[in-house]
Amino acid sequence: MIFVLGATGKVGRALVPALLDAGAAVRALTRDPAKARIDPRADVVRADLDTADLPALLDGADRVFVLTQGDSVTRERAVAHAAARAGVSHLVKLSTTGVHFGQKDPITRAHAEAEQAVREAGPAWTILRPGAFMDNRFAWLRTIREENAVYVPEGDPASALVHVRDIAAVATLALTTSGHEGATYELTGGEALTTEQQVAVLSEATGRTIKYIEEPEATARERMTRMYGWPAEAVDGFFGLKRESAAHEHVVFGTVARLLGRPPRTFQDWARENAAAFTSHYRE
Ligand SMILES: NC(=O)c1ccc[n+]([C@@H]2O[C@H](COP(=O)([O-])OP(=O)(O)OC[C@H]3O[C@@H](n4cnc5c(N)ncnc54)[C@H](OP(=O)(O)O)[C@@H]3O)[C@@H](O)[C@H]2O)c1
Repeated sequence: MIFVLGATGKVGRALVPALLDAGAAVRALTRDPAKARIDPRADVVRADLDTADLPALLDGADRVFVLTQGDSVTRERAVAHAAARAGVSHLVKLSTTGVHFGQKDPITRAHAEAEQAVREAGPAWTILRPGAFMDNRFAWLRTIREENAVYVPEGDPASALVHVRDIAAVATLALTTSGHEGATYELTGGEALTTEQQVAVLSEATGRTIKYIEEPEATARERMTRMYGWPAEAVDGFFGLKRESAAHEHVVFGTVARLLGRPPRTFQDWARENAAAFTSHYRE
């Protein structure tokens, strides 16, 4: 049985059905099964990683997909140690390309430490290091719906965004086939697009001309607080990560194509799949 942490998140929602389609038995973790819409073929388990009896939670798991939010070091170290004691044979950890590039922001440093804990815990391991997700562009939903506009902080870099289903496909490979033990895979899309190009792709997919507006960082910070209610430390964290990743976001890794034997999904694919979400509730 494969135990999937973060089963209701962006990656987990794609991973659970992919594993089930590959014939695996899946146990999926959530803190709230009533809200979670997890594939009914999976065995859903309710727990909070911060309070759970981890050895009991991991009992019977053969392989574990390790994805956490926030303080990944504390949680993932505890999960890795408990997994070793529970006889788990293989841990597949979701990390970030930032570790490859040696970024110094707190999120990346936490992933680097958590990777180390997973490598040292005992079970076989595979590290997946995706770059920025295409799904991050759901942050543009509100202003596209309400104003037909996207506001981007000045100097936002071109980015080789990766589709979460490609991350899930690689994770499925690592969790269901051999030969990935001890491997670290950087995962990106196949091309870097500027944010202006991404907005043009969304315009094409939605059939609307979406306005692209660059704004100074101070205005972008104010928008995040006013419009989205982000706390100050979350805004700082976002810009801290941005400053560290800006120089690398355009870098394309060929790993997805090499492992999956097909090109990565494109931002055009993603925009077509999600066009309806961007245009619902749209007010002219
Ligand atoms: N976004 C990017 O561009 C990007 C790029 C590279 C790497 N990453 C990394 O990707 C990871 C986030 O993945 P994601 O976007 O798929 O996640 P997500 O959509 O933010 O979902 C978070 C998941 O974590 C679970 N979770 C949160 N706290 C928990 C707790 N205390 N106990 C148990 N489960 C808990 C949630 O489950 P419930 O709410 O159902 O309990 C949910 O399934 C982070 O490590 C991030 O650093 C992100």
